[in-house]
Amino acid sequence: MSDIKTNINIFKSHLTIQSDYVGGKAKPKAVDGRKIYKLSSNENLLGSSPKAIAAIQDHLQKLNEYPDQTDARLREALASFYGAPMSADHFFTGNSGSEILELIARAFLDPGLEVIIASPTFMPYRLFSEKMGAKVLDIKLLEPNFDLNVREILEAINEKTRLLFLTSPNNPTGSYISKETLEYILQEIPAHVVVVLDEVYFQFTDQADYTTALPYALQHKNIIGVNSFSKAYGLAGLRVGYAYTHPDLARYIRQLHRPFLLNALSLNAAIGALSDTAFLQKTVDLIQAERNFLYQHLDQLPIHYWKSQGNFFLLRPPMSPKDFEAKMLEQGIMVRPVENFGAKGCVRVTIGTRAANLAMLAALTAVLG
Ligand SMILES: Cc1ncc(COP(=O)(O)O)c(C=O)c1O
Repeated sequence: MSDIKTNINIFKSHLTIQSDYVGGKAKPKAVDGRKIYKLSSNENLLGSSPKAIAAIQDHLQKLNEYPDQTDARLREALASFYGAPMSADHFFTGNSGSEILELIARAFLDPGLEVIIASPTFMPYRLFSEKMGAKVLDIKLLEPNFDLNVREILEAINEKTRLLFLTSPNNPTGSYISKETLEYILQEIPAHVVVVLDEVYFQFTDQADYTTALPYALQHKNIIGVNSFSKAYGLAGLRVGYAYTHPDLARYIRQLHRPFLLNALSLNAAIGALSDTAFLQKTVDLIQAERNFLYQHLDQLPIHYWKSQGNFFLLRPPMSPKDFEAKMLEQGIMVRPVENFGAKGCVRVTIGTRAANLAMLAALTAVLG
C-alpha cells in the first residue's frame, strides 16, 4: 500500500510483490568478549586473496579517477585464466554473482514468460524473475538426496519458458548435478530455453562426474556458467561476479552494462585474485579436508546431515531451525535457517577453519545435549 495519490496506478504490479527472501545476517558484537564464528553466509574463513588485497591497496591513491569504462581488462584476464579457446568475448561481468543473475533475468524475461527453478535452492532466481514479471515454476528436488526431477522439468517447459536455473553445487543442499544428467538436459531442452548453471561453489567439488558449464558453452549450447569472487577468493564484501557463455549471448547481455559498471577496486582486485593460485589452492585444500573431518565427527552425533560438494553443509536439527539458530548463537556459532530456500526444518552451516569447525562441533554437541 502507498500514500501516493494518482488516478492511474504507476506501479508495475510485479515490482510490488513482497519476497520473503532476505540475505544472511551480519555478525553481532561479541558478548562478554567471546569469539563468534559466522558460519551462516558461506564466506571464506581464511580471509581474502592477498593478491586482491594488494591490488586494492595499490589503487587507493587513485580513487579520484573514474575506473575503466568497460570490463574489458577483467574479461581479458578471465580469458587467460580459462585458456584458449575461451576469449574475452565469451564473458560478461557484474557486481557479484547476484548481479549476474539479475542481468540474465533482465536480458531474457518479461511478463508472460516463464522460468524454472528447483528448490530448495538459492532464492534470488525466483526474486529476480518475479521482479521482471515472469512466472516461476518450482520443480522441487527429490528427497532424500536432492536429485533433480529431470522428467518433470522437461515436461514443464513450454514455448513461454526462457530460463532454467540449475545450481551445482547447490545452495543450501550441497548436492550436485552429474555430467550425465546435465548432458541429458542439454540434449532434450528446446533451443529457446537458456540453461543458467550457477557454479559459484565449483572450486570445492571433488567428484569425478561433476562438470561446470564450460565444455557445453564451448560446444555452443544455450548455457551460461555463473561465477562469483565471493566464495573461493574470499571477496564477498567487494561484490564481483562473472559468467561465460556463447559469445552471441554474452554480447547480448553486455548490452545491459552501463559505463563504469565495475568500480576500480573490484576490477583490479578480481584480476589480482585470478592470478592468486596459492590462495585458491589453500582455500580448496582446507574445505575439502575439513569437509571429511566434519563428516567423521557428524557421523557420531544424533543429527541428520547431508554430504556436500560446497563450502557448507545442510543439517536437520531435532528442533525448529529458529530455535537451533538461537541455541547455536548462545554457543558462539552463527548458522543459517534455510526454510525460505525451500528446505523445511533445515539449517545450513558453513565449513571454516579447523578452529571454527571444532567450535561448531562443540556447540552442536552442547545443543544436542
Ligand atoms: C548458489 C549461489 N549463487 C550465487 C550466489 C551469489 O553470490 P554473490 O552475489 O556473493 O556473488 C550465492 C551466494 O551465496 C549462491 O549461494
